[in-house]
Formats: sequence, structure tokens, C-alpha cells
Amino acid sequence: MAISSSSSWSASLLLCCLCFFSSLIRHGTVEASHQVFLHLQNSESLTVNSSADQPFRTAYHFQPPKHWINDPNGPMIYKGLYHLFYQYNPKGAVWGNIVWAHSTSKDLVNWTPHKPAIYPSQPADIKGCWSGSATILPDGKPVILYTGINPEEQQVQNIAFPKDLSDPYLVEWVKSPKNPLMAPTASNKINASSFRDPTTGWLGPDGMWRVIIGSKRRRKGMAILYRSKDFIHWEKAKRPLHSAKKTGMWECPDFFPVSTSGHVGLDTSASGPHVKHVLKVSLDDTKKEYYTIGTYNPTKDVYVPTKGSIEFDSGLRYDYGKFYASKTFFDSDKKRRVLWGWINESSTRDNDIKKGWAGVQAIPRTIWLHKSGKQLVQWPVTEIEKLRTGQVDMCNKLLKKGTKLEVSGLTASQADVEVSFEVGKLDKAEKFDPGWTNAQDLCTEKVATVKGGIGPFGLKTLASEGLEEYTAIFFRIFKGKDKFVVLMCSDQSRSSLDNSNDKTNYGVFLDVDPAKEKLSLRTLIDHSIVESFGGEGKGCITARVYPKLATRDGAHLYAFNNGCQDVHISNLTAWSMKKAQLN
Ligand SMILES: *[C@@H]1O[C@H](CO)[C@@H](O)[C@H](O)[C@H]1NC(C)=O
Ligand SMILES: *[C@@H]1O[C@H](CO)[C@@H](O)[C@H](O)[C@H]1NC(C)=O
Ligand SMILES: *[C@@H]1O[C@H](CO)[C@@H](O)[C@H](O)[C@H]1NC(C)=O
Ligand SMILES: *[C@@H]1O[C@H](CO)[C@@H](O)[C@H](O)[C@H]1NC(C)=O
Repeated sequence: MAISSSSSWSASLLLCCLCFFSSLIRHGTVEASHQVFLHLQNSESLTVNSSADQPFRTAYHFQPPKHWINDPNGPMIYKGLYHLFYQYNPKGAVWGNIVWAHSTSKDLVNWTPHKPAIYPSQPADIKGCWSGSATILPDGKPVILYTGINPEEQQVQNIAFPKDLSDPYLVEWVKSPKNPLMAPTASNKINASSFRDPTTGWLGPDGMWRVIIGSKRRRKGMAILYRSKDFIHWEKAKRPLHSAKKTGMWECPDFFPVSTSGHVGLDTSASGPHVKHVLKVSLDDTKKEYYTIGTYNPTKDVYVPTKGSIEFDSGLRYDYGKFYASKTFFDSDKKRRVLWGWINESSTRDNDIKKGWAGVQAIPRTIWLHKSGKQLVQWPVTEIEKLRTGQVDMCNKLLKKGTKLEVSGLTASQADVEVSFEVGKLDKAEKFDPGWTNAQDLCTEKVATVKGGIGPFGLKTLASEGLEEYTAIFFRIFKGKDKFVVLMCSDQSRSSLDNSNDKTNYGVFLDVDPAKEKLSLRTLIDHSIVESFGGEGKGCITARVYPKLATRDGAHLYAFNNGCQDVHISNLTAWSMKKAQLN
């Protein structure tokens, strides 16, 4: 996203506290990977009011004690420990001064903080250490490739190595004096302001490593391909691995193999007959991520997408709500591929500064190819279930039309809910208008209060007792031309009495057949986060909300049905969630 340089903010004032960043802003030419706010905070204004009310901090979604975070970086497992690095401003609750903060975990749930692993220290990164990825080399050694901002404010790619491989925490990182390893030059035609976020490397049959780096040429987004024999000397391939017109800058590309049979994850270098590949990109222009599923020929380095599209709103997405700059890694211990993604705030910058922090990470998700081959499926890592306590069950309950049922006996502001609905007869389904191509628009038009034929039915989370506030996650079933259409919505329109926040509604069409399958929903509620998985992980929507009344003990949970037909809750199980050790 472009640095907006329109402010009259004094560069000299910035210089005193934000040296390495200030000239970047003065010149206003470098394209930052993340929103840049001109009023960067100085340390005085950063004292977090610890006595202040903090109802929106999370209990089990990853966040540091204070300040700004964005992209997850270099996730990996090493000697049985999970590592998460992330973009972090050590000085304030807005973007700036970015370093790689670092935490480790034995279970992806409880985290121990370490000092920043990578921070500006050499010419190739003196003006910023931006996103990147870890690769485990065949001898078990991890390396990190990341984007540095050099003194000319160019985006270049650098490498860092662990100093002491016997330390499972990998606290110290050293940078190669050969940095940068990849840089824009006069001859390679790379746009120096649009060249960032190297992926995990993969090894081809020719023994060469490959990585891709996000870029664009004019409005054409692309994943530039590089090859290397030794991970140090990199050569740009003639053709990008993939590109698409009119998509703008591709940030945080991710390219990985998935198995065509079962949930098992694959090493990033895997290929062969039972393997498909996934290319995900984060579009800087729209702040939405899209992925395609396709075939990759590692001999020719050609990737051909078969499902999904980066260009259109109808493309496949991991999450149809707030979720950006995501990155996967192969968990070689548990043989699964795990997805991390950043959830940003929906509040104003002033509110972020007041509360002293901004940004959290989504619950890591196991990700695999659905047996149809048409899409990926995601599910929170099973380890998160150890936080469950105080189970509440509801079995075979009738949810009459026009009613709601309270799910009581749990901490509704900090909970995990699994529910499955059975609809029965489908003849009351409204006709689906073929003009409804955009699920988000349809969810915005038909919020939870809009009565339907079958549905809306689902959950009202973070609800105040009098329902002045709630975030509703629900389904509607329509009768399409030759099949039923299931719409899943996350309705934030009444999430808070405070109107200063972004309350965009989100939606997705779920590929499930309500005539044959139950409709399932799992929702992770964590004070200001409602992270939902519909159709057993086929459709995910993450919402960020800031209720005024429905906080802590003021929060309630309801199942509701605002349609013209009764539905059955065949099974609802909910748990209060214990607090994780977050950092
Ligand atoms: C800290 O927050 C509390 C509670 O919101 C408020 O009463 C108090 O005035 C705040 N103190 C400062 C110094 O802002
Ligand atoms: C290079 O990227 C910058 C930042 O997005 C943009 O302003 C500029 O127009 C790009 N240059 C070309 C030639 O595409
Ligand atoms: C963060 O949230 C705001 C408002 O909710 C949104 O407009 C913006 O695009 C988001 N940014 C990113 C990087 O996701
Ligand atoms: C209800 O769902 C929970 C959680 O998925 C499961 O443990 C339980 O066995 C289910 N009960 C029935 C009766 O299906």
C-alpha cells in the first residue's frame, strides 16, 4: 500500500524518534507493504494506560502485550518447537519501525516471547525489515529470506541464519555479508518499490532451489521466480511463475503442494502424481487474498491454475472476513500444513493508540485439499481444544421459526462453539436470483433481521442481553436453478453501539448440499474476534468487533432462527475457553 505523503507532519520531528523511517516518508516514494500512518507515535505518547479498560484484548488469539503487529513471518518447526515471527513496531500501536518479533511454542497455543530476531542493522535492510519466510534446508538447518529496505529505499531480498543451531529457541540470527541476494537492477526491470515477501524455498528435480517474490509491472500482478544452487546466489527466471492482469501488487505470495488424498500435509518441495499446487496472493489494492489450485510442472517451472481466480471477486479465498498477509508452513512433526494469518483492527487509529495495541493473529489452521479438488478446507489446529472447559450440550432441539435459544452456562465472551443444523423439507427456500453473484453484497442486503424462507438461522455471538448488540453468523438456503444455494454470513451491523468502527458484513457461498448434508458451524469467540468455520471448514469468516455492552459477563450466546420454517439443532456443543499464555 502506498505511503501517503500528503501530510504536513514535520519530517524533522519524525527524525528525532524514527530515524530509519523518516526519510522514507519525506521522499514518499517507497511503496510500503502495509499501511503507513504519518503520525507515527513517539515514545512519550506510548505509555499504555494499564488501568484503562481493556475489554477487547484476546485470551487465546496470539498478540503481544502492546504495540502494533501485522504479517506473520517465517513460521516453522525446529527441534520440536514452533516459531512464529511477525512484523512488529516496538514503539507504538501504529505501523512503523518494523522488526521481526519472535515467539516460540510447544503447542501453537501457549507462547514464549524472545527478543526481536531480525532488525535493521546492515545497508541491505537499514530502512526496514519486512516480511519473509523460513526454509528448512535438507540438513535440517533453517534459513530466513526476508525483504529489506536499503538506503536507496529499494526493496531487496536478504538472508539470515541462526547463530547457534543447538539452541532450539534460535534466539540469535546473523545476516549474510552477501546481502542483498536479490535486487532490482537496470537490466532485470524489477520495480524497486514493488518487490517483496519471498516465499519458502522448494527444491526442483534439477537440484535447484526456487522461491517466488511478489511484484507487479504497471497493474499486472506477478510472482517473480528465482533459482539457486546454494540458496545464496539467485538468478531470476525469464518468466514469472504466474501473473494476472489488472490485479496490482501481489504481496505475501505462498506456493505449496497439497495431497489429492486425505488431510496429510506435504513438504514444500513435494511433487508427483498425487499432488496439486496452491498459489495464494494478498492483493495490496483490495486487501483481499485469493488462491488458485493448479498443476505445477517443476521441470518447466510452469504453474497452471485449474480452480479459482486471482482476478475476480468470485475467486477462492481462505477467509471471507478479516484475514491478510497469510502464510503456511509444513509441520514435519505432525505431517500437516498450518496456515497463519493476520487479523487487523476495525477500529480507528486513535482508538488503537488509546488502547495501546493493534493487530492479532488468527488461530493457526490445518489446511488441506477437499476431496472434490475444488477448494481447500481449514480447521483450527486440534491443540486449541485443550483450552476447552465446562462443556455445554444441546441435542436435538427444535429451533422454531422466529425464536432464539440462549446457550447458557459458559463464558460467552471467550468460547468455542460447534453446532450442526438439520433443515428437513426445503420447499420453503426462496428463489435464488442469478444476479446475486457477490455473497458479501447479499449478506449486506439480507442481515440477520431480514426474514427469509429457510434461514437466517445460526448464532448470535457477543450479544447483549437485550440484543442491542450482537455479531450474527448464520445460513440462508435458496433454491437455485438446479441446486440449492447456501449462503453463510457474518453480520456485524449490530456488533456495537459504538459507530466509529468498521462494521462491514461478510459472506460466502458454501459448497454444501442441504438436501444431503447437515449444515455445520464452528465459531471461536475471543472478546473482539469472531472466527467462524462453516460447512466443516469449507467457508471461513473472521470478524473484528468492539461491543460496548456485550463484553465479559455482559456477553451472551444465542442460537436463532429468523426464517419461516423450523430447523433442528441436531447437536450443539459449546465450551468456555481458558486463557492461553500469549506472550
Ligand atoms: C486511565 O484509564 C482510566 C480508566 O479508563 C481513566 O479513568 C484514567 O483517567 C486514565 N488515566 C490516564 C492518565 O489517561
Ligand atoms: C513501481 O511501483 C510504484 C509503487 O507502487 C508505482 O508508483 C510505480 O508506478 C511503479 N512503476 C512502474 C513502472 O510500474
Ligand atoms: C484493516 O481494516 C480496515 C478497516 O476495518 C480495512 O479497511 C483495511 O483494508 C484493513 N487492512 C488490511 C491490511 O487488511
Ligand atoms: C456433538 O458434537 C460434539 C462435538 O463435535 C461431539 O463430541 C458429540 O459426540 C456430538 N454428539 C452427538 C450426539 O452427536
